[in-house]
Amino acid sequence: MENNKKYYITTPIYYPSGDFHVGTCYCTIMADILARYKRLRGYDVFFMTGTDEHGQKIEEKAKAKGMTPKEYVDDFVVRAKDLWKILKISYDKYMRTTDEDHVKAVQKIFEKLYEQGDIYKGEYKGLYCTPCESFWTETQLVDGKCPDCGREVKEVKEESYFFRLSKYQDRLLKYYDEHPDFLEPEKRKNEMIKNFFDKGLEDLCVTRTTIDWGIRVPFDPKHTVYVWLDALTNYITKLGYTTENDEMFKKYWPADMHLVGKEIFRFHAIIWPAILMALDLPLPKKIFGHGWLVINGNKISKSFGNYKDPRIYIEKTSVDALRYYLMNEITFGEDGNFSEELFVERINSDLSNDLGNLVSRVTTMVEKYNNGIIVKENLPFQDIDADLIDVASKTVENVEKYMDNLKTNDAISEIWKLVSKANKYIDLSTPWILAKEGNTQRLNQVLYNLVECIRIIAIPLQMCFVDTPQKIFEQIGVSKDETLWDSAKEFGLLKTGTKVKRGEILFPRVEMTEDLFKVEENEEEKEDKKGIITIDELDKVELKVGQIKEVEKVAKSKKLYKLQVDVGEKAPRTIVSGIVPYYTEEELLGKQVVVVTNLKPAKLCGIESNGMLLAAGEEDVVKLLVLDNNNGTLENGTNIH
Ligand code: MSP
Repeated sequence: MENNKKYYITTPIYYPSGDFHVGTCYCTIMADILARYKRLRGYDVFFMTGTDEHGQKIEEKAKAKGMTPKEYVDDFVVRAKDLWKILKISYDKYMRTTDEDHVKAVQKIFEKLYEQGDIYKGEYKGLYCTPCESFWTETQLVDGKCPDCGREVKEVKEESYFFRLSKYQDRLLKYYDEHPDFLEPEKRKNEMIKNFFDKGLEDLCVTRTTIDWGIRVPFDPKHTVYVWLDALTNYITKLGYTTENDEMFKKYWPADMHLVGKEIFRFHAIIWPAILMALDLPLPKKIFGHGWLVINGNKISKSFGNYKDPRIYIEKTSVDALRYYLMNEITFGEDGNFSEELFVERINSDLSNDLGNLVSRVTTMVEKYNNGIIVKENLPFQDIDADLIDVASKTVENVEKYMDNLKTNDAISEIWKLVSKANKYIDLSTPWILAKEGNTQRLNQVLYNLVECIRIIAIPLQMCFVDTPQKIFEQIGVSKDETLWDSAKEFGLLKTGTKVKRGEILFPRVEMTEDLFKVEENEEEKEDKKGIITIDELDKVELKVGQIKEVEKVAKSKKLYKLQVDVGEKAPRTIVSGIVPYYTEEELLGKQVVVVTNLKPAKLCGIESNGMLLAAGEEDVVKLLVLDNNNGTLENGTNIH
């Protein structure tokens, strides 16, 4: 093994904030394919994945489940590792940001950056998106909402430490310029530069005082380290950076490939290189932002009802089928569609019909016509042989070319070119006629060519498929040496006497039925879907009896009344309500109604509304929920249960 042939590849470390779906598996499967490819090419590969376990979101999730954050993340990690095992992800290290060595290393990094002046203390005033754990400036918001997820941001103000990101702006741009392969795909790089550098980089707030579940700043422990600083450094801390035990760091850093999803590309392309520059460390060779998997055009999410445990696809088909679909169907770097119908179609056509049939037809013929023995004849080639051999001997070199340029779907298509060529060759060379005619030498030659093609197909398939290549090798009886990557560049390696033995069907056909991939939901999920809430959740809504004391139309609006409603407090509350089309001012005055009193205040036509009246109906008929005062009245402010 050559010394410089090392390949350090990482996936993002996952938030333990939800369950995995086929989209979240995509990145890790693609990283696994790249890792396997490099191993097959003789590289010393180090492949790392893991979990990003700190932050407010985790703290909240754990609380909702009645667990401590640590219990919550421990539970998630067991499930994540289980899934990676099923998908046969060949990672070398699973990193957790709650691991003691990582925590210590982050603290050392923070201290170092502080001591050298790259981190300073200041006051943070700004906007924070909790789900994305991201800070934003006013100008970055889109329609007043988080530019990444479109949700509300909240204003925060606190004493904070800042990383001097702005100082690195020019160095970063220069680096991108001088290293055109650093950020890919190109269009993502350009988009990012436009969105973030055109406005100028601002220093980055790197601590919080309001989040407990995080790594403490060693010299100021009321602060916890911003999750992205904590998370990004995982790529070096796990290699032993900052410790005496840093052989791994020396051996594998800089990373050769950080594979990340498009929405976190900018963190890796801006913040991470700037931190590394500040630490005076070399930058990773490549950051690649892949696209998102969507389901029939929709984002994968619980609210679209398309969020499914990916294990179901494996149970009903196979790991190789799923890995094939993801590698073949999605142009690496672009968004791609996952459709269950198309998935089944691909299994039946590409895997079962094309590849599966090729192997089964050829092995059957060798058994039937030649007792399973391969014979290498010394006959001149015919045109159809030369044509087949030409494609076969270029296959692996072309695969290399595509894989080295991260054209993963072209690489797999290249293998299928040979699959289809070999299938056609069977029809053109008609071995059954040769057998009937007793043309043994030609028959031997044809069968030899076919088995040799199958060998050349199965070798590069090992980067994507985790079970099938081995099954093929067993069926065609090849030796270990004849399965090595470079051996696929040489047509004609198989020896006379190789014993072929037909085996099980590689890819049974799958029948698409309505409930083929139906997942049995657990009780919690069923309730989630039905919109059922617990009594504790209901208790969060505070409902009170209120009496309308004053009514005034809002000048700028056709629908809104500004009401003064007595809910048993010192003074009536101002509540803005859109019921002008349904009630006159007189009808409303004095009515006792149901009021939601703990709703976050909202501004309507510039007036702050401090609650909401409950009403039924929409459009033509709207009725307020009014107390029936038949047998006496209730006091304003009475709780409603
Ligand atoms: N914790 C951060 C990463 C920190 S890395 C220093 C994070 N975690 S995540 O769990 O939210 O996302 C992990 C990866 O899953 C991201 O790369 C994200 O793009 C990917 N995906 C989530 N949904 C996806 C699809 N629907 N399709 C493809 N990838 C998707 O971000």
